[in-house]
Amino acid sequence: MSDTPRRTAAITAVGAYLPEDRLTNADLEAMVDTNDEWIRTRTGIRERRILRDPDKATAFMATEAARQCLERRGLAAEDVDLIIVGTVTPDMHFPASANLVLGATKAWGFDLSAACSGFLFALTTAARMVEAGSARNALVIGADTMSRIIDYTDRTTCVLFGDGAGAVLLEPNTEGLGVLDAVHYTDGSGADSLSQPAGGSLRPPTHETIDARLHYAQQDGRTVFKRAVVGMADAAAEIMERNGLTADDVRYLVPHQANLRIIDATARRMGLSEDKVMLNIERYGNTTAATLPLCLWDWESELKRGDNLVLAAFGGGFTWGATHLKWAYDGTGEGGTQNAEGAPE
Ligand code: ACO
Repeated sequence: MSDTPRRTAAITAVGAYLPEDRLTNADLEAMVDTNDEWIRTRTGIRERRILRDPDKATAFMATEAARQCLERRGLAAEDVDLIIVGTVTPDMHFPASANLVLGATKAWGFDLSAACSGFLFALTTAARMVEAGSARNALVIGADTMSRIIDYTDRTTCVLFGDGAGAVLLEPNTEGLGVLDAVHYTDGSGADSLSQPAGGSLRPPTHETIDARLHYAQQDGRTVFKRAVVGMADAAAEIMERNGLTADDVRYLVPHQANLRIIDATARRMGLSEDKVMLNIERYGNTTAATLPLCLWDWESELKRGDNLVLAAFGGGFTWGATHLKWAYDGTGEGGTQNAEGAPE
């Protein structure tokens, strides 16, 4: 057996961007037939952030989050080797939003489309590149401008989503810290339950597709809910078992923020108490690929080197999975600084 320590990829910085404009449940009451009580009890959401500037979109938010990450490590855009952006709302179908981030001329990269699992899948992909030595470092970004594909006349979807971006920097580690294991799944039989039906090559934009509002996200909430409860909890339980983790070993569950009830079911299955669950759905809603890095950003000051985190997500596609990582540094106290109420209670 070789004595060479295993090379892993560890998160060494976190960054985020949240638009200033807020869309509250009261605002939505004035737009569609809904009410604050229904939204809070069914989802846990009170408000979301919306990117109003029509000249800005996902690449702008991704760049702001990435810039914050690099500043914390004293790195310049030219120091970055690889950029992966998890998103379902790229600025354009092509070029990829990853090409538009930071103007990082020395990096290569691409967008990764896995809906709410986008950040999780991107994290694993980038970690493998860093472990293999193919990249000295990598920016992994989850960014979505959901407000641009949401139908604000459809109460079943418009109350759920918000805009935002989160980013992490991955660098090599030989101390057993960083991304240690992951289980990921997809199942295309869920394609019709959650999708943006038109605008791709199957249904290119026509007057008919626009009139039928097929360019907006559509969801069969009940079907997705049932699959998400099982998928996220199963994946989280599987990653714990594979890595011999008990509930006591896990410092935090970092769950995709789609619905408080799905998160509660996952935490129960893992045997975790409430204080071990990162939750910010109340303030941001479902920001799709951005939810996991936004949680890490909000909780960064609480995290200690060596903490075991389990990240778990479920999203359109269907896509789902869980990741075990060991946090690599003591919290800097800088997390959540963009948001006045950002720090966890
Ligand atoms: N306000 C008031 N009433 C509403 C609203 C609303 N905003 N939306 C739906 N209702 C009504 C429905 O019409 C229905 O009325 P009916 O009984 O008269 O038909 C009733 O409320 C119950 O509707 P359900 O859809 O059964 O409500 P449910 O408890 O399932 O909650 C929700 C809906 C929140 C969407 C839930 O199903 C859910 O969270 N699903 C999973 C979402 C998810 O995880 N998505 C994956 C990630 S997203 C991604 O990948 C991009």
